[in-house]
Amino acid sequence: MRIAMIGSGYVGLVSGACLADFGHDVVCVDKAADKIEALKRGEIPIFEPGLDALVASNAKAGRLSFTTDLRGPVSEADVVFIAVGTPSRRGDGHADLSYVYGVAREIASAVKGFTVVVTKSTVPVGTGDEVERIILETNPDADVAVVSNPEFLREGAAIGDFKRPDRIVVGLEDERARETMTEVYRPLYLNQSPLLFTNRRTSELIKYAGNAFLAMKITFINEMADLCERVGADVQGVARGIGLDGRIGSKFLHAGPGYGGSCFPKDTLALVKTAQDHDSPVRLIETTVAVNDQRKRAMARKVVAACGGDVRGKTIAILGLTFKPNTDDMREAPSLSIIQALQDGGARVRAFDPEGMKAANDLLSDVTYTKDAYDCATKADVLVIVTEWDAFRALDFPRLAETMAAPVLVDLRNVYKPEEVTRHGFSYASIGRGT
Ligand code: UGA
Repeated sequence: MRIAMIGSGYVGLVSGACLADFGHDVVCVDKAADKIEALKRGEIPIFEPGLDALVASNAKAGRLSFTTDLRGPVSEADVVFIAVGTPSRRGDGHADLSYVYGVAREIASAVKGFTVVVTKSTVPVGTGDEVERIILETNPDADVAVVSNPEFLREGAAIGDFKRPDRIVVGLEDERARETMTEVYRPLYLNQSPLLFTNRRTSELIKYAGNAFLAMKITFINEMADLCERVGADVQGVARGIGLDGRIGSKFLHAGPGYGGSCFPKDTLALVKTAQDHDSPVRLIETTVAVNDQRKRAMARKVVAACGGDVRGKTIAILGLTFKPNTDDMREAPSLSIIQALQDGGARVRAFDPEGMKAANDLLSDVTYTKDAYDCATKADVLVIVTEWDAFRALDFPRLAETMAAPVLVDLRNVYKPEEVTRHGFSYASIGRGT
């Protein structure tokens, strides 16, 4: 198959590289000339484990190339993927579809012969209809089938998620696209990943419903964690106890400082807006959004409590800034709200993150960035684990105790068992462990 991938950001690049690895001929297109030039030199603009090697080997094999020119690759393609951004629109929380629609217009004037146009970007229900309308309005002779094929990649695990998905969802209205999409995903299909064909609107909603459900599941266990602290129960025991029920499932029941990232906050908000517009409010998700927003800042109160009720003039060492490990993504990261709240309370903040410090520096002010966890802890009154990077899973507590002003650890990801920390003379606070 000849594939044009429009948009070489996170989703486009991972999908393009993986599809090339399946043996397809993939051209990744992006308007940003500097990004394309860097990719041609083999430089990957994002941090994603394994992506550099995958891009390099497929580029070398001649299956993966990069260009700023949309017309050429689209005119030759059997399948054109739209993988441009759909950020939250400023002011109203709706998904901003201007990039998707702009690309649809450009595709319309470039397509030749029957072409399957696939929306991979996360888009609200009905966007496929509009993409089809725009293409046919721009070029009434275009012979296209517009398909919805949402992605379910997790940052930091994206290549594995693409190559071994729980399912592939394809929403179509034109039966001709069924064969093409089966061909695109043939290697996965042969590996027994279910290929779920449905109509376009159902497919678009599956993506939002999936992310909203996961966000709700995390928020549920976070509220249970707060309750555990009050009633003397252990949230990890509760998660295990309910997770073994096959109807509930054990995944995404890890309590923490609230979900962040580029997907859950944006997608839950967009679903709430769509539902309100259709006079069918999703109140569980409205509440999820509100509870999660409040939670991030509330985590700072845990730190204040660990410091004896006041952080003014105190030095706080933050380990982990990104919204989760194995990414350099700072979008909607709980660390941002926590650090802001602590600074508002008069604290000095030191921080270390293996990948996120560059992005954090653009979003936060007055933070001292350090070279590792121990440097970060120097003279600190409290050490706070905000993101569970592997580098923080085996800290040398005697060494930390020597360098810190006071041996206090706040573990917002429950990386440690309490006794592993307290036996070194530390005072220890974590999430939902009231026992
Ligand atoms: C999420 C979904 O997991 C993917 O399936 C989806 O494709 C993607 O959004 C998307 O829409 O593009 P991602 O945002 O990369 O992927 O990250 P997750 O691993 O899902 O984590 C999201 C947030 O939830 C993080 O802040 C994480 O720390 C938090 N989380 C996750 C918890 O607090 N507890 C958990 O048990 C799991």
